[in-house]
Amino acid sequence: LFEAVIFDLDGVIVSTDNYHFLAWGRMCEEEGIKFNSEINHRLRGVSRMESLNIILENTEKQYSNLEKEQLAKRKNDYYRNSLSSLSDDDLLPGVRSVLDYLKNKGVRVAIGSSSKNTPMILKQVKLNNYFDAVSDGNDIVNSKPDPEVFLLAAKKLGIEPEKCLVIEDAMAGVEAAHRGRMKVAAIGDAANSSQADYILGELEDLKKVIN
Ligand code: BG6
Ligand code: MG
Repeated sequence: LFEAVIFDLDGVIVSTDNYHFLAWGRMCEEEGIKFNSEINHRLRGVSRMESLNIILENTEKQYSNLEKEQLAKRKNDYYRNSLSSLSDDDLLPGVRSVLDYLKNKGVRVAIGSSSKNTPMILKQVKLNNYFDAVSDGNDIVNSKPDPEVFLLAAKKLGIEPEKCLVIEDAMAGVEAAHRGRMKVAAIGDAANSSQADYILGELEDLKKVIN
């Protein structure tokens, strides 16, 4: 049924979603802007600047475009600082085993991530030469829930969207996959979504979907 699996990165392959949360939290604390896990929930899968705009809905303060860029940069500096100690120990449970399983089955594997830090992260966790295609925040104009990043991944693989399965932990990503005519398996934060085609209690459950 599926010829390729397109993985979201943050929160699916690697536990960087928590580092995003901590970095935004630090910037918000310094600025006196309200931030909590409910707000963070809405940032999953969303680009850096769009995330900042969501965060700024919680303050009366007005920031100029230049100031916004500086806030986003400050957050990214904190975030990249925590990425510098990232290693393959930070791969989420089941990743290695599921990737090897798919390779053995001849299923192509790709990354579809909104993050501009994707190349650095893949390098840190030693997966920079593993995927058949990588489509990330550096390649796209519109971030999830727009399907652009997934459609580009399919195009790079040379496989029709209908034959791709997306793995996502974000609601924005579940929507993006569907808008790209792809089926989607939800894990983690998105796993209680009724919109996903498959629900993965853990990543290893993917072996039951692709068998
Ligand atoms: C997504 C994350 O993968 O990448 C979002 O889920 C993040 O939380 C987005 O905002 C953009 O990341 P970056 O690394 O380009 O700031
Ligand atoms: Mg994610």
